[in-house]
Amino acid sequence: MIHKPTVLIGSAQAGFPGQGRVSYTGKKRRKKYMLVEAIEHEAATRPLPFSYRNTLVAAQRVNWRIEDIIGGERKLDFSRPFMPESLARTGELGFLTAGEQRSLNQIKGHTYLSIFGLVEEFILPFVIDHVRPSLDRDDYRVRAYLQFASEEAKHIQLFKVFADEFRRGFPAECAVIGPPSAIAEKVLSHQPLAVALLILHIEWMTQRHFVDSIRTDEGLDPLFKSLLKHHWLEEAQHAKLDTLMVRSLADGMSEAEIERAVDEYLEIGAFIDGGLGQQVEFELEALEAASGISLTDEQRKEFIDSQHQANRWTYLGSGMTHPRFLEMLGELSDEQRDRVAAVSEAFC
Ligand SMILES: [Fe+2]
Ligand SMILES: [Fe+2]
Repeated sequence: MIHKPTVLIGSAQAGFPGQGRVSYTGKKRRKKYMLVEAIEHEAATRPLPFSYRNTLVAAQRVNWRIEDIIGGERKLDFSRPFMPESLARTGELGFLTAGEQRSLNQIKGHTYLSIFGLVEEFILPFVIDHVRPSLDRDDYRVRAYLQFASEEAKHIQLFKVFADEFRRGFPAECAVIGPPSAIAEKVLSHQPLAVALLILHIEWMTQRHFVDSIRTDEGLDPLFKSLLKHHWLEEAQHAKLDTLMVRSLADGMSEAEIERAVDEYLEIGAFIDGGLGQQVEFELEALEAASGISLTDEQRKEFIDSQHQANRWTYLGSGMTHPRFLEMLGELSDEQRDRVAAVSEAFC
């Protein structure tokens, strides 16, 4: 992974069991399948007042190990796409051959690993900082947040292991924005409610990616799909805990204070959008290197416009427009919910 440290900071203004590689048999498989179904149903329908205790119990039931997902004989299949078309949007680029579109799709998969690795590097310290001053309060609350933090640390490692596996099989280097520590520092310089809103956006966004686009896509590489499924399983609990976190941080705030937090949430969004634009330049470089092609100026413009919008939808729009995210915003302020919904149109 190549980090180009100053780029993002400089642009700041601006299958279910059986389909994946974990195998469950007989009763255990049916039980796991039912659990997955229940989690999806609950995340989509349960009212927002989640409880720390229930969230902890659910988290412990779905918990998995990295060794269950990747390692040994389990390899990425580079003859298949890694990302669903609704997120990668490579089919829009008619001047690329089918093989070049698949290579670009895989590059987008590498970007996905890298962007989630980045965001989880600021989620982890934020969650720990949130629970640290109140370790003597509700025991279930403390344990639920520590479970959340532990899972994010595991996810950071999982994404790194997959990125290593990607590099062993892909014919070109894929640069990524960063470094993660500089991005984390920038994001965490904002007030806690703004950061918590961003994290809530990210958690619901992850739910949407899997449920809407990945779960029923039978053409994806099974190993990459297994990664996305297992990540989604644990993120379902994070979305609930982030809801509780946002509610507690906003407790007692005035309308003006909520507005200022949303200002900062949108500032972080603009910062991320600058990085996503730079990431598209890296993706183009990687595609040209991997496929031995050189796009014309007109094709480059079309590529960058189309792929930047794809990244915007994947990492910004799909979170900002998630009904549960907007529902939480509406609980804070109808005006701020409507404001975010209006801004989100640029990212869809
Ligand atoms: Fe995660
Ligand atoms: Fe998470």
